[in-house]
Amino acid sequence: MLDLEKLADLDSAALNDAEKYALMQTTSCLDRFTNFFKYSHAENGFYPQSENVEWTTGFWTGQLWLCYELSGDEKFRKAAECQVDSFYKRIIEKIDVEHHDMGFLYSPSCVAAYKLTGNETGRKAALLAADNLVSRFQQKGGFIQAWGPLGAEDNYRLIIDCLLNLPLLFWATEETGDGHYAEIAKKHLETALKLVLRSDDSTYHTYYFDKTTGEPLRGVTAQGNRDGSAWARGQAWGVYGSALAYRYLKNDKSMDVFNRTTGYFLSHLPDDVIPYWDFDFTNPSTEPRDSSALAITICGMLEASRWTNGEKSVLLRQEAGKLFRQLYERCAVTDPQVSDGLLLHGTYARKSKWNTCRNRGVDECNIWGDYYYLEALVRLKKDWDPYW
Ligand code: GLY
Repeated sequence: MLDLEKLADLDSAALNDAEKYALMQTTSCLDRFTNFFKYSHAENGFYPQSENVEWTTGFWTGQLWLCYELSGDEKFRKAAECQVDSFYKRIIEKIDVEHHDMGFLYSPSCVAAYKLTGNETGRKAALLAADNLVSRFQQKGGFIQAWGPLGAEDNYRLIIDCLLNLPLLFWATEETGDGHYAEIAKKHLETALKLVLRSDDSTYHTYYFDKTTGEPLRGVTAQGNRDGSAWARGQAWGVYGSALAYRYLKNDKSMDVFNRTTGYFLSHLPDDVIPYWDFDFTNPSTEPRDSSALAITICGMLEASRWTNGEKSVLLRQEAGKLFRQLYERCAVTDPQVSDGLLLHGTYARKSKWNTCRNRGVDECNIWGDYYYLEALVRLKKDWDPYW
């Protein structure tokens, strides 16, 4: 088992190098990716251009806002603002918004714009996205339906990733004074935290309900190796999602889930720290890694360190720094000829005998990996006010 104590501490030279490279790399992408977005993942190292579709475009805009925060450089702000307009159009015209990923899309793009610059278009767009998200709440079962037509039996389920969509609802209540957004978020959270965590502290990716009675039925994977395994990124959504839930609710349950999901994640890392895409695989394995899962987990640990005191808070921050150093040394792009992303060795989806996906973005950069890597860097550099 990996001994975190033995890993080298993060030093400011490594952090500064990481920052310098990320700013340079993001700058070099502005020409191609201001009127277009980065696709969900790179292909042979480089991102295709994408319209504002899928669940992933908010991460590129979020990366621009993070660069703006790091550098104060107006070119990042201008590019991000252009994209905020695109997000407004997307929600008004209902372009690919028939799913629950409103937080992934609208928190790092539009909530960020509003928090950082008072951008009113960002505020309006994010509130419309929050309305869209609450419209997916299913009373029978008490959860937000992730995918597909509302009420469809084969899609009557929640997924663990949704924990990252809930901050948009808590923000909407803070912003408008209307409590119903937070109420829905709390109900979903209560249902999800009760069902997705297993007794060994690993997590289910998705959980089905009976459409007629609302009874919880069974945990099933979509992107993990098998129903009973721990998909690395799903576990990471559990870590960061529970830390963010604690940020808003200050409840024991969220902190307990954070402690348990994080404990499982860290104790199942391979010796060289970068997780395989599913925790069914341990070293040595030829299966691909998912660096993004580690980036997400580091952000969760840094968020939780803000809400814990004394030694525990210091330790969380120190461990997160150590993990970030490994992520930087083993996965950061350091040559623009190799990739126009920031973080190598992510896996969007890996087909297995038991799951429902096709191979997609295997051992590539993906845009949320880039984003959470940079978010972790910003969190390690300064006291950061989350977009979430
Ligand atoms: N939220 C979808 C994913 O993590 O792939």
